[in-house]
Amino acid sequence: MASPPMRAFLFQLWHRSVAPLKTHTRGFGLPRRRLECRFFSTGGPGQTDHDRARAFVLERGYTPAIADGIMAALKSPGAGIPQGRLYATVQEMAGRWEVGEDAGLHSLAKSVEQELHLQEGKRLVRFHVQPPEGEPFECEGFEGMSLKGRRAILLSMHGSEDIAEYGSGEGASLLKEYIECACSGVMACSTCHVYLDASSFKALGPADEAEEDMIELAFEPAETSRLGCQLRLSSQLEGMTVTIPGGANNMFDHIPFE
Ligand code: FES
Repeated sequence: MASPPMRAFLFQLWHRSVAPLKTHTRGFGLPRRRLECRFFSTGGPGQTDHDRARAFVLERGYTPAIADGIMAALKSPGAGIPQGRLYATVQEMAGRWEVGEDAGLHSLAKSVEQELHLQEGKRLVRFHVQPPEGEPFECEGFEGMSLKGRRAILLSMHGSEDIAEYGSGEGASLLKEYIECACSGVMACSTCHVYLDASSFKALGPADEAEEDMIELAFEPAETSRLGCQLRLSSQLEGMTVTIPGGANNMFDHIPFE
């Protein structure tokens, strides 16, 4: 198995090959890289307005199920979108996506995502988050969600998603500010490191070798350390307490890439 620094290096190589890196400052002031999926085509002869709109949504990194949900929502009579304007509408809703600005597409995708979870009968799991300073806050997410970071890599395969991006409410927004995710969830940065309460740590089961390797490199690891990008919510984690460390090590900072 590749070492964490090697995984980080390989990921950067792959990352650069599929999409440009965009860096934002958030949370602890660490860079946040957003990954855009570019495995789909938005054009092509013979494509209908619906096909082009759906392909555009897929290209923004959403799953086929979410893309279909968005199409269904926009095509409903209540949406009031004239025939032949779907593609133009999703383009407008995507806003200036190249620089990380959205004009409504992401919000609609989140609503569709929530609806899909409800249709699948997934349970909402509620938990508490203790930031390094200040008051704890409540958070919730559907079973199977990570805290942050798995969406970018796995979305196109089976729709995995995270609470920070796809959760609802103030808790999700706060979590997004407090947990960094520099490697988009491929266990190559350790910026998503969190501590769990002892019983939730036990309920989650052991981390695999790759996660253990990365935790060793995290900021002040402890016995109940886990990576937020690998943690998947389950009913056993109802009521858990997630504590955010007072700092974060970003392994991407230690890669002599250039
Ligand atoms: S997001 Fe990089 S290790 Fe979890």
